[in-house]
Amino acid sequence: SLHMQGPDPSLAYRPNLAEKDTKEKEDYRNFESGTLIDRVFNTYKLMHTNQTVDFVKLKHSEWTGCTHTQMGMMDAILSMDQLVDESDPDVDFPNSFHAFQTAEGIRQAHPDKDWFQLVGLIHDVGKIMALWDEPQWAVVGDTFPVGCKFQNSVVFRDNTFLDNPDDKNPKYNTKCGIYEPKCGFDNVLMSWGHDEYLYRVMKFNNCSIPEEGLYMIRFHSFYPWHSHGDYMNLCNDKDLHMLPWVQEFNKFDLYTKSTELPDVERLKPYYQSLIDKYCPGILKW
Ligand SMILES: *[C@@H]1O[C@H](CO)[C@@H](O)[C@H](O)[C@H]1NC(C)=O
Ligand SMILES: *[C@@H]1O[C@H](CO)[C@@H](O)[C@H](O)[C@H]1NC(C)=O
Ligand SMILES: [Fe+2]
Ligand SMILES: [Fe+2]
Repeated sequence: SLHMQGPDPSLAYRPNLAEKDTKEKEDYRNFESGTLIDRVFNTYKLMHTNQTVDFVKLKHSEWTGCTHTQMGMMDAILSMDQLVDESDPDVDFPNSFHAFQTAEGIRQAHPDKDWFQLVGLIHDVGKIMALWDEPQWAVVGDTFPVGCKFQNSVVFRDNTFLDNPDDKNPKYNTKCGIYEPKCGFDNVLMSWGHDEYLYRVMKFNNCSIPEEGLYMIRFHSFYPWHSHGDYMNLCNDKDLHMLPWVQEFNKFDLYTKSTELPDVERLKPYYQSLIDKYCPGILKW
């Protein structure tokens, strides 16, 4: 109400967070049961078997040079209508709708922070790697550091790492592993996925999203840290300063998920204007 504006056609769709369905907060991220549980478990099993230090370094060499293609941000978002995230126990519809749901939730709560709304829109667009033949276990799902002990709050920790060679490697399976205490997550190799990829794409293309927004993009899937308090031994002051931002973002990433799908055509012009402001033109991916 502090930000009264003229009629905006994109406001025709407003997710009503209170009424849209009856799902309670504790019903999200159920990794024990539910209709999608087998698909979710299989994705994490592959991820936790194959994400090693060597694998992550290989993926950095393949993706962070942004030589894959050239595309505008809105086209990348809309291409997500071809992707259903196989690690997500809460969503069985294309990721493009989740992009607009998250953005609209943030817009309602933070009308003055257009960059934050844009982060909501784009945060998962790194999943585009899955449309370019990267397997989902190297794209989606929660992230965790490699090169040190896999801590207890990683989902399916007990029964999915048995065949991961790093789990038995004494160089890697101690609390700090290859890292110095408090080295900061900037110096930690995370399991490869859409967070780090999009962060790299944004940096490579000199996008002007504020540091807090870039940080949310980079660590929004790091649930063992931002929601469970693991890996505190590796964070530095910057990480601790950014943690509340990641947690604020997470509310919208998670609790705007609803089978009531947004009217993307109506919302597009508003979000195109944010793209034009912060990450305009054709980007290198
Ligand atoms: C991933 O792990 C599975 C076993 O769970 C294995 O069959 C497959 O070859 C691995 N893929 C890669 C790329 O390492
Ligand atoms: C980003 O900025 C750097 C330094 O100004 C420049 O060298 C580089 O070409 C820019 N990258 C893109 C993709 O425009
Ligand atoms: Fe994500
Ligand atoms: Fe998301």
